[in-house]
Amino acid sequence: MTETIKHQLNHRTIRFFEDRAIKPEDLDQLWDVMNRTATSNGLQASSIIRVTDPQIKDDIAKVCNQFYVADLPELYIFIVDSRRIQRIAEEKNYKGDEYRSMDFFFKGFTDGALMAQNLTNAIESLGLGAVYLGSILNDPQTMIDILGLPELTFPVLGLGFGYPNDNPEKKPRMKMELKLHENGYTEPDSYMEALAEYDQEMTHYYDTRQKNQRSDTYTDQVTRALANVPEKRAKIMQVVERQGFDLKLNNGND
Ligand SMILES: Cc1cc2nc3c(=O)[nH]c(=O)nc-3n(C[C@H](O)[C@H](O)[C@H](O)COP(=O)(O)O)c2cc1C
Repeated sequence: MTETIKHQLNHRTIRFFEDRAIKPEDLDQLWDVMNRTATSNGLQASSIIRVTDPQIKDDIAKVCNQFYVADLPELYIFIVDSRRIQRIAEEKNYKGDEYRSMDFFFKGFTDGALMAQNLTNAIESLGLGAVYLGSILNDPQTMIDILGLPELTFPVLGLGFGYPNDNPEKKPRMKMELKLHENGYTEPDSYMEALAEYDQEMTHYYDTRQKNQRSDTYTDQVTRALANVPEKRAKIMQVVERQGFDLKLNNGND
């Protein structure tokens, strides 16, 4: 097994970190890795905001509703960046405005997510740990205001990382055969049956883990997540439109 795969198979989210800065030479390498990530059409339509101001970290922690966000040694917010594409188009006297399209939005969104995971692999290979922050989208408009994001940009995902001060157990996953389909989509007759063993495994994981012990199962988490979608998160496309992207929802089939 390669060292890379060993690190990937040992992945655990780390939420607590030592109060210690990452070595500048390691940071340089991590930035190079982000920059080397594959990118849709080579357009590089995403950017990263590195947050170093403690006040901004506090404000983001409030949006995330997760107190540990304020103490993250490194905090990056990946964003869709059609703004740079627009600027380039204007400087080249290009007359169209396709940079407003959802096609460009999704190119930037995918690029941002891929950069974040490429960075995470590199972080873990250095013996550091990382936590994703999807919770920045609990309130997309406030995130935009906090970071002063201009039109044609949009937050995708946060990532915090540093030297781990935590050693959580590995969280079990459902069987790969439920996710890996061959030549088309297949479904079991009953997911409750197909997932019964996994639910037991998760119950054991939550019962026996060191921190935050609780009684829980995966299938209960699914219904709880569905019942708890924050209102501002559910209305995310309204903010995408406010940022200048064209949803083209009223154009019928044309
Ligand atoms: C897109 C995405 C968003 C996430 N958002 C958060 C978050 O806001 N806060 C958090 O503590 N963990 C977050 N996580 C981490 C997940 O909770 C974690 O990956 C999952 O519970 C599995 O645990 P593991 O990564 O330790 O295997 C996120 C993960 C992903 C992939």
